[in-house]
Amino acid sequence: MVEVIKTIPEMKAKVKELKKQGYKIGFVPTMGYLHEGHLSLVRKAKSLADKVVVSIFVNPLQFGPREDFREYPRDLERDLSLLEKENVDVVFVPSEEEMYPSDYQTYVEVVNLTDKLCGAFRPGHFKGVTTVVLKLFNIIQPDIAVFGEKDYQQLLVIKQMVKDLNLDIEIVGSPTVREPDGLAMSSRNIYLSPKERESAVSLNRALELAEKLVKEGEKNPEKIKKTLFEFLRMHPYLIVQYIEIVDPETLDPVEVIEKPVVCAIAAYVGKARLIDNRLIKP
Ligand code: PAJ
Repeated sequence: MVEVIKTIPEMKAKVKELKKQGYKIGFVPTMGYLHEGHLSLVRKAKSLADKVVVSIFVNPLQFGPREDFREYPRDLERDLSLLEKENVDVVFVPSEEEMYPSDYQTYVEVVNLTDKLCGAFRPGHFKGVTTVVLKLFNIIQPDIAVFGEKDYQQLLVIKQMVKDLNLDIEIVGSPTVREPDGLAMSSRNIYLSPKERESAVSLNRALELAEKLVKEGEKNPEKIKKTLFEFLRMHPYLIVQYIEIVDPETLDPVEVIEKPVVCAIAAYVGKARLIDNRLIKP
């Protein structure tokens, strides 16, 4: 039986017990409504650690005032049965009050990396992510923590926080899991109508097109971005927020494609804001 823990003191006591027994702890933070993407992180954590803790917490701090915090899909029963099948050891499901009591007043922020890509369009988002992840790290004290490459900027921001604050946690990235037609799995895909779902696939198609252009020798990011904008414009229900071709470490736009780059796209498809990215090697 997977053990479900709801309070911070109980979670800390459990961690203490596991550490005393010498177990290496792997951790996968999530906001629930789990899919194969999340489960792939769980399997990776299982392969790298002795005991795996998964957290499920829809973190209000990382949603903007006009974002989907209230509508964000939730199904704890289903999540727990999926985690049970993966032989997860502990699921930490704190309440909002448990994480942010009414006198809460501390935040942690990575400054430069968070100005770029999604950070430019979601002010305060990454500050909310780093704050909750640092709190979870302090509560669970994992040896390793696994994050998806689907949220590439988030992965880099977390790695930067761990380095800057000298945390003894190994951050492991894990590849994006996709639907058979290539759409990156996301809890937010549930928002898509059948027609929007058809348009959503074009995000991955656009990334494939970018890769094809680079492999054919195109070195000018502006030309690739223009082609991608034109390609995505043909799809109804889809409004591009950004298309960027950036350095995989700094996330700064590149001027000439000579080394591996990350092509990252964010778009609204209906009310769902979807992101996807691809590492492209010339
Ligand atoms: P959430 O969107 O639930 O994602 C939890 C983890 O699953 C993240 O590391 C994310 O990158 C990964 N993930 C999501 N879709 C994936 C896919 N298709 N393939 C592989 N990995 C995927 O990201 C968050 O929650 C939150 O910001 C969190 C880190 C929990 C902090 O609140």
